[in-house]
Amino acid sequence: MDILSEQPDWLYLLREYHATFGTGSSGGSNAIRSHRRRVREEINRLVQADPPILGRQAEEKPVTAHLGRAFDLAATGPLNTMAATLRRLSGYFTWEWGYERVPRPLTKRYAYCEIAGPKGPVQAERIILGLVLLAPGTTYPQHSHKQIEESYVSLAGAWSENDAAVYAPGSLIFNQPGQAHRITVGDRAPCLLAYAWLGPPERLQAPGMTFGR
Ligand SMILES: [Fe+2]
Repeated sequence: MDILSEQPDWLYLLREYHATFGTGSSGGSNAIRSHRRRVREEINRLVQADPPILGRQAEEKPVTAHLGRAFDLAATGPLNTMAATLRRLSGYFTWEWGYERVPRPLTKRYAYCEIAGPKGPVQAERIILGLVLLAPGTTYPQHSHKQIEESYVSLAGAWSENDAAVYAPGSLIFNQPGQAHRITVGDRAPCLLAYAWLGPPERLQAPGMTFGR
């Protein structure tokens, strides 16, 4: 079994996540500053623990046909180095739907993959890091995560959450545990989001993903 320190691209990717949550501003929000700090602490802990890289079966979903375009767009955005590392590793990603019931139209337009978490590939108990990919024009229906606080940082695409604003690459959105959120994506470009989840290990192990009504 490989360990993190023997897989430089996975290690570089964790450092990219760390940098993403370290550079830039929290916009004056104490809640976001605290979230970002705890994400960095968990990543530091992970790197020090030098966990195994679990060999998961790589898997695509229909939406992953948009991944190349998302990487192309991300290459000119603020998270371009992270995007380059992601592109090198993308052949290993396990794209999933996760939800107990996924609306049929969404199966063609949405998937996520985990970078670190209880199932790997980088084995972690106290944090989940991953990617969400949404096709142009997609509505990611309303959902929330019990006991899990979540942030999304965009690498590519224009998107909105709860019809509140339009976010460009580099923007960070923070969702408190249980807070309902619905994402829409502009109709010209796919949206690639990096996310971080913090929560109790038993909840991260079994997040019980369901859509709201
Ligand atoms: Fe979410």
